[in-house]
Amino acid sequence: MPVISTFCKKGGVGKSTFIGYLAHYYAQQQKNILVISVDDQNSIFKIFGTENAILEDDRNYFDYLIEGFIELGDVLINIRPNLDFIKTLNTDSLSIRITQERRLEKEIKKIIESYKTFYDYIFIDFPPASSRLSEVLIDLSDSVLIVVGLDSLGLGGFVNAIQYFVDKDLDIELINYILPNGFSKTKRAPKVSLEALKIQASKYTPNALVLPPLNDRSVIKNLQAEGISIFDNVGLSRYDTQSREIVKKELISLFEMLKFEKTL
Ligand SMILES: Nc1ncnc2c1ncn2[C@@H]1O[C@H](COP(=O)(O)OP(=O)(O)OP(=O)(O)O)[C@@H](O)[C@H]1O
Ligand SMILES: [Mg+2]
Repeated sequence: MPVISTFCKKGGVGKSTFIGYLAHYYAQQQKNILVISVDDQNSIFKIFGTENAILEDDRNYFDYLIEGFIELGDVLINIRPNLDFIKTLNTDSLSIRITQERRLEKEIKKIIESYKTFYDYIFIDFPPASSRLSEVLIDLSDSVLIVVGLDSLGLGGFVNAIQYFVDKDLDIELINYILPNGFSKTKRAPKVSLEALKIQASKYTPNALVLPPLNDRSVIKNLQAEGISIFDNVGLSRYDTQSREIVKKELISLFEMLKFEKTL
């Protein structure tokens, strides 16, 4: 089953937000979903109000599974129905180990292959920093979605991501989608950045689809601060309920444009 990654060489652009919501939406469609956080911050847990799980058990990190200390089932943290997460402790030292010991690369491949038989979709949430671990996991992905923040720094992150793919000899064709995030009708910068992004994307990733931009919505920030996913059915004030429904619709229309089934 497909492995889908979100990536960008710039922090805070919305990678974890987008993949977290996509994962939750699919899980609610009765798909079995695994999210692997290969980010030491494991911030995707916060989006679901489950940041306690990052610290409360220190025996269940992805690192330990790769090293062979624990079993496939031991690292899984159930977050919502049909939605499991995996957390990572120290991507830097793990990356050094992978470079030193090539067998670990094979081990990672085996682990992902095994999870593929249990889950309908595997999502990988990357940090902006690069590492050998990221390279190995991008290489194992069927599809990469680049999230770009619609400001000048965010755009730089797009070009850096392409540069990274080229430097590390990763397949640019894996990049199937580009999501511009943080659009605002009333501000000039995001509009200008969106046009610039389209030009860059047509040059560097002609086969990738630039999705319609996701708007900058304060309800996303507010709900994340409370640990409530946009797809959680919890009672909110009338105003927040209205805003949430607007964002949900916006996200679902984006999700419906994504096709991840493998074309063999
Ligand atoms: N469309 C949006 N509207 C408003 N706020 C947003 C939107 N998308 C993301 N955010 C907010 O931006 C912040 C960064 O988002 P997120 O953590 O998803 O980015 P990231 O790219 O995963 O960051 P990092 O590089 O640190 O992993 C969060 O506070 C999130 O709530
Ligand atoms: Mg993130």
